[in-house]
Amino acid sequence: MSEARVYDFRKQGAERDRKVYELRCPVFFVGFMGAGKTSVARKLARNAGVSAIDMDTYIERRCDMKVKQIFAEVGEAGFRSIETDVLRDLTQGEPRLVSCGGGVVLVPENREILKAGGFVVYLKVTAAEAASRISDVTSRPLFGDLDQAQRVIEGRLPLYEEVANVTIDTAGRGTGAIAREAFYRLKDEGVLWQRG
Ligand code: S3P
Repeated sequence: MSEARVYDFRKQGAERDRKVYELRCPVFFVGFMGAGKTSVARKLARNAGVSAIDMDTYIERRCDMKVKQIFAEVGEAGFRSIETDVLRDLTQGEPRLVSCGGGVVLVPENREILKAGGFVVYLKVTAAEAASRISDVTSRPLFGDLDQAQRVIEGRLPLYEEVANVTIDTAGRGTGAIAREAFYRLKDEGVLWQRG
């Protein structure tokens, strides 16, 4: 990417209080745990002056329980049904950047909501890199060990690809570089547009 484009992005970031950008529709970040969905959405939101929301945090506030506790109380199926409810809520109202839980694509209804309700950015990550980015894997009941994570990533790959409007490979890249690419891809697609 040219220096000019990088500079442009930073300048627009500094102008965020003027809220120069708007979203045409909700943008969902999907991908395996540790792909950087939450940090990338937050960074992009700050730079473009739009809002971001994290599905797991929203669920935890709504249930007044950590995700790990929800899994322990109602199991994965119970968690998935809360997740579908929340996903439906988040397609309503003013469009936002939504960082989704890694397993959101498992439920067919969720995939339909994602495809019909917004624009989907798939952040691709390897198991090893994901593990290195998550400070406490025990907070993710389904992460398991590296082999298990690798198998889950492979199993989910076609589901992530089914819903993705754009795919960004996060290998060896920091949050800033990934957010910058997401910014330009969303602008190019006309999802993020400049007011006035
Ligand atoms: C899950 C991913 C987690 C969380 C839950 C299940 C999954 O979210 O929703 O532990 O099935 O991949 P993150 O992807 O934000 O870690």
